[in-house]
Amino acid sequence: MNRRKFLKNATLSTAGLAVGSTLVACTKNTKSENHKSVTKQVTSLPIVIATWNVPNATAEAYKILKKGGNAIDAVEAGCKIEEADVKNQSVGKGGLPDRDGNVTLDACIMDKNGNCGSVVHLQNITHAVSIARNVMENTPHVMLSGKGAEKYAYQLGYKKENLLTKASKKAWKKWKTTSKYKPIINIENHDTIGMLAIDKNGTISGACTTSGLAYKMAGRVGDSPIIGSGLFIDNEIGGCVATGLGEEVVKTVGSFLVVELMRQGKTPQEACEEAIKRIVDKPNSDFKNFQVGYIAVNKLGETGSYAIHQWFSMTKYQDGKNENIQSKFIIEA
Ligand code: GLY
Repeated sequence: MNRRKFLKNATLSTAGLAVGSTLVACTKNTKSENHKSVTKQVTSLPIVIATWNVPNATAEAYKILKKGGNAIDAVEAGCKIEEADVKNQSVGKGGLPDRDGNVTLDACIMDKNGNCGSVVHLQNITHAVSIARNVMENTPHVMLSGKGAEKYAYQLGYKKENLLTKASKKAWKKWKTTSKYKPIINIENHDTIGMLAIDKNGTISGACTTSGLAYKMAGRVGDSPIIGSGLFIDNEIGGCVATGLGEEVVKTVGSFLVVELMRQGKTPQEACEEAIKRIVDKPNSDFKNFQVGYIAVNKLGETGSYAIHQWFSMTKYQDGKNENIQSKFIIEA
């Protein structure tokens, strides 16, 4: 049965599709060996998941969802919490700078209608995710970069800020004594913050935000502002966000791959595992020396996460419970 027809039928069935926090039955379009549909329970809605241990961010998003707010508002608000947290040195204000000492941010956002917006190499503005949302909603474009993105932020009324905190400047100065470039596997158990939410109406949105690789070359752009790599949403199927070494995610168009694998019938967990396998199985892959992690959710609210290295985790807020779940992995720390 085609996906659109299936969803229509599921909605018209006696059980219907879940709204609010009710558990209901619906038919999942999973192709089993004999191509029969498998009956599955929709988990309770709303739900929000995020990369790493970010309970404050998921709590902010869940608060909006619980009040009946929509998924796009929730993911933006959740990401903003981490962008404003100067203790988080991989996102927003307080992020670690590039080799020249400049903090540059990448972010993107995608809604239930397949609209998206992103900012690339944004400086002097904390809330990159909000500028990305404005690009999506209020410009004819999908991506704005560098000075253009910054100028647009000022036009929106954002004020110029110094994003390089004392702590990040100190870390950068220390790094300069050797200037050795090596991807850090898990930056104090943080990296790109990616968030996916399903609101009470069952619609999915996602966002991600990062200061990118610490001490990157000036001008370097990772996966996070690239739709399909750092983030992808298909409201009929599910969503995925990535964290870790962006170059490897870009080379495999990771988030799009995960969503397409779910479309083919894989669970979010299976899809994340397959996408990581694609990276690891590449000829001469140096995967022992870098981290990549994915989290994903499907239309039924099932979630999954997987990473190359241990200590990647997912924060999940559902049914009033905000919990941090250690991800499965390939290599033990
Ligand atoms: N995943 C963040 C980056 O590579 O920039």
